[in-house]
Amino acid sequence: MSYFGESFLVILTFLCVFVTRSAYGLPKVRPIDDVQPRQTLAVHNKIRAEVGVAPLVWNKTVAAYAQNYANKQAKAGVCQYSQMRHSGGPYGENIAAGWVQPKDQMSGPIATKFWYTEKPNYDHATNKCKDTCGHYTQIVANQSFSLGCGSFRCHDNELIYIVCDYYPMPVGDADTRPY
Ligand SMILES: *[C@@H]1O[C@H](CO)[C@@H](O)[C@H](O)[C@H]1NC(C)=O
Ligand SMILES: *[C@@H]1O[C@H](CO)[C@@H](O)[C@H](O)[C@H]1NC(C)=O
Repeated sequence: MSYFGESFLVILTFLCVFVTRSAYGLPKVRPIDDVQPRQTLAVHNKIRAEVGVAPLVWNKTVAAYAQNYANKQAKAGVCQYSQMRHSGGPYGENIAAGWVQPKDQMSGPIATKFWYTEKPNYDHATNKCKDTCGHYTQIVANQSFSLGCGSFRCHDNELIYIVCDYYPMPVGDADTRPY
């Protein structure tokens, strides 16, 4: 085959991949592969250790609750940031969403690092936030002993939602510090 013929074949292959991707999106991924329980737990516990708070353990009951809520959201077609609501259940809860492309921008550990960026907003002396810090204070709340997370994907598997629930729910009032 001539050199020219080969490059033509390559271009055709690229076109097919592109067309297939836009028609069917990315392949399906199991929620657990987006949640990554072990790493998600490790990131939480590193952040807790920084402020001397005891580590969390993974809670299967709580994880099943989070995944069940994620499944409901997926079924309801909740696919925009603005549509996302808390589950309103008996747990503390953090939610995040991010795109898969152009590189992997969301997973359990990535969501946890994202919530952690609120740390400078929390003032321990006054127990107050400037801006948002509720996701961070949930991570470090010493009233919570365990967590479980779930996930779902939207937009042809390209947008990932992560839902983490915490048991027991932290007190989170003006008089109660997370640690
Ligand atoms: C997990 O959560 C349930 C409440 O949903 C609680 O009863 C149980 O004690 C928790 N387990 C751990 C290991 O924290
Ligand atoms: C959590 O932190 C508060 C405030 O520092 C402290 O009074 C309480 O004893 C701590 N609770 C646990 C379970 O560590």
